[in-house]
Amino acid sequence: MMAINELYTPKQVQVLKTLRRTDWRLLINYGAVRSGKTVVDNDVFLMELRRVRAVADRLGVKEPMFILAGYSSKSLQNNVLQELTNKYGIDFQFDKHNSFTLFGVKIVQTFTGSIAGLGAIRGMTSFGAYVNEASLANEEVFNEILNRCSAQDARIVCDTNPDVPTHYLKASYIDNKDPKAGVVSYHFTIDDNTFLPTKYVENMKAGTPSGMFYDRSILGLWVSGEGMVYRDFNKEAMMIPHSKLPSNLTYYAGIDWGYEHKGTIIVMADDHAGNTYLVEEHTRQYEEIDYWVEVAKDIEQRYGKIKFWADSARPEHVARFQREAIKCYNAKKSILSGIESVAKSMKQGHFFVVQEAMDNKKVGTDKAGYHYFLDEVYMYVWDKGTGLPVKLNDDVMDAVRYAIYNMHEGIKARVTKKPRQLRG
Ligand SMILES: Nc1ncnc2c1ncn2[C@@H]1O[C@H](COP(=O)(O)OP(=O)(O)OP(=O)(O)O)[C@@H](O)[C@H]1O
Ligand SMILES: [Mg+2]
Repeated sequence: MMAINELYTPKQVQVLKTLRRTDWRLLINYGAVRSGKTVVDNDVFLMELRRVRAVADRLGVKEPMFILAGYSSKSLQNNVLQELTNKYGIDFQFDKHNSFTLFGVKIVQTFTGSIAGLGAIRGMTSFGAYVNEASLANEEVFNEILNRCSAQDARIVCDTNPDVPTHYLKASYIDNKDPKAGVVSYHFTIDDNTFLPTKYVENMKAGTPSGMFYDRSILGLWVSGEGMVYRDFNKEAMMIPHSKLPSNLTYYAGIDWGYEHKGTIIVMADDHAGNTYLVEEHTRQYEEIDYWVEVAKDIEQRYGKIKFWADSARPEHVARFQREAIKCYNAKKSILSGIESVAKSMKQGHFFVVQEAMDNKKVGTDKAGYHYFLDEVYMYVWDKGTGLPVKLNDDVMDAVRYAIYNMHEGIKARVTKKPRQLRG
């Protein structure tokens, strides 16, 4: 038989030892990505089912119930069920409500990503719960899971990546040190996972944007952003003359519609080495849609029929572009993921701005000749309260984010087919 420390990391062993204690009701394993939270929680899930069966035997309960909760059906399948099948060969037999029985316990699945998750568990009495990716859970659904766990000795196990410090999971549970609340939590950092190859951890550390993303993903801390959003932007290293732009580039554009606020179209280009270049910026206030059609057609004159990723908040503008036969698409706008993909490119030294694109001269039909990227990148700051950037001086920032995120994520999805990590 293998020794426990060959099977688990020291942090995971700590979690497993906690199962023998009876002084807690809610166990939260939170922290860095890839730090070993779900692997141990999946085993904890199986051990808890054995314990529940024993409790039920004592109480003479024929079919005790247990809640298995995850953000979505797909994430539960990927993070929990598939992993258990791979590791232990468990063959789950689902009934018509997607419940299944394991070790004499009936497991009811619920999806916490929307309030609809309530329906699956309303009214039931559960002997315990396992909540995967708990910080993504709708708070009402999470509360209902806790309320449902009313059977004798019921307890709840969660794993989660950190979020803002004001998140209910942190503020109301992890920080609740009252022993009567029965909350135990463990903080995982990426270094706690002794099974990860050293090289992989080094790459993760080197490639994760400084500040909030690093503190959450690598250190596993509940922090909000502070100061500059794009901390890794470095004007000295990232501004290049047009003459240094490689050939054979894939061009694309990002659009943030605006009238009272500035409107902006930026042109980006990717090379084959994973570098991204900002090659043109067209920003102007008080211009009607006709002006922007003209700018876009002018861009097409230079780069051909490229993709324009646009803010979907103005569907009439997107429709007008499409009527003009411009390849204009609604951009996916998820703010944090979008910022993360831009910030990653900067941190990894793959982001460049063509100097001439920032000079105060006109390009094509661009009447303004003033460019805002460099102003905005230094003024674009986190709002500590919301955990998102302050919505001010962000027009060019938004356009850059739409372009890079949609272009890069789209490619990744096609190449790897792996479902995107929900966080981190
Ligand atoms: N006890 C273990 N034995 C072998 N490999 C392990 C063990 N624990 C973790 N790993 C390895 O580390 C990887 C990441 O672990 P896990 O999925 O538990 O991380 P996580 O903290 O849930 O990450 P995320 O926050 O990204 O969901 C696993 O896919 C597995 O390869
Ligand atoms: Mg996980």
